[in-house]
Amino acid sequence: MKTEPISTPYDWLDRSLESIHKANWYRSTQTITSKAGTIATIDGREMLMFASNNYLGLAGDRRLIEAAIIATEMYGTGSTGSRLVTGHLALHEELEMTIADLKNTESALVFSSGYLANLGVIAAIVGARDLILGDEYNHSCLKKGGLLSGATAINYFHLDMVDLTAKLQEHRLKYRRCLITTDSVFSMDGDLAPLREIMNLAAEYDCMVLVDEAHGTGVFGDRGGGLTNALGIQQDLIQVGTLSKALGSMGGYVAGSANLIDFLRNRAATWIYTTALSPADTGAAIAAIEIVKSDKSENNLRQQLWRNVEFFKQGLQDLGVQAIAGDSQIMAIEVGNIATTMQISKHLRDNNIFAPAIRPPTVPTARIRLTLMATHTPSQIRALLQCLAIMSSDRDSV
Ligand SMILES: Cc1ncc(COP(=O)(O)O)c(C=O)c1O
Repeated sequence: MKTEPISTPYDWLDRSLESIHKANWYRSTQTITSKAGTIATIDGREMLMFASNNYLGLAGDRRLIEAAIIATEMYGTGSTGSRLVTGHLALHEELEMTIADLKNTESALVFSSGYLANLGVIAAIVGARDLILGDEYNHSCLKKGGLLSGATAINYFHLDMVDLTAKLQEHRLKYRRCLITTDSVFSMDGDLAPLREIMNLAAEYDCMVLVDEAHGTGVFGDRGGGLTNALGIQQDLIQVGTLSKALGSMGGYVAGSANLIDFLRNRAATWIYTTALSPADTGAAIAAIEIVKSDKSENNLRQQLWRNVEFFKQGLQDLGVQAIAGDSQIMAIEVGNIATTMQISKHLRDNNIFAPAIRPPTVPTARIRLTLMATHTPSQIRALLQCLAIMSSDRDSV
């Protein structure tokens, strides 16, 4: 007897996965079994870590671990509820005051992640009658925040102030409020937003500005306040960021005027309807910010990081290899061809260096994305450079 193949409503998953494989876009996880640091045990192998956002090495720092333990002993493992119900701890207030001080703002609010902070803030402050103008390479959460808000979201070309001006001229008057959004340090290329020019345009066209300092906080500014602080920008703006990268913990924040924060406590759904940040994450974040703010010594973590960045940049130059930008601790080397990028990534991996390839659709062109840490030693950086010699302009091909 002939049997009909049984079809289910989930068959499309097989077909979709097949297309993802065919396009070379398939991603999978790799399991780490060691503490955060410059050396990681990945899938059972010890490797040099050049891909992490733990820029200052704080995620494995004893002081943060102890702060997390103390906070857990004092408050327990969970915060037990949302901030407006049972989850609002004195520790959260302390963290918010610490962030406001770091950012030089009147107030701050912590979210469970940077992603949720951006979704919540954007969806709360603009709506269907408003306009968002965002850099085309903004992080996913800025873009998804725009979608969630219902505002008209238009991208301007990456870092292109001529294009942003043209779009403001064309569209601004048709909308009630306008929000300009940008990463401060772009996560995939490591280049920097022209924040002063953006602030000037915002003043001219009566726009709010939201800057995502996820990769700038802890790294830029003489107290680690981020690129906005480093540039001495004083005007009113909305600074969003994460506690999970240079600050070595977990969670997100928004810093700005007292009015803004008050409004968000009443309107940001991703803050109101979710469980408050755990005591351990909160305690660790406070400890991290205190370290970042107060260590003014010549050899503080930030100085060590910038020295490592300079050392690596010099090494790349000696090899004749060009990074897309050299302005930050994120260094991306564009390869273009996905297969070649995968080959280079494999070569690094074969030599126990962890620096995965980043491919479309995350970025427009395939690249090797490298990140430097304050705690990398010169010999670790030299080992990376030795492997990258495969990309040297003196060589024909990989
Ligand atoms: C620019 C940017 N914004 C926001 C986020 C999200 O932060 P979180 O990991 O805390 O959700 C990230 C990174 O993951 C990021 O790179």
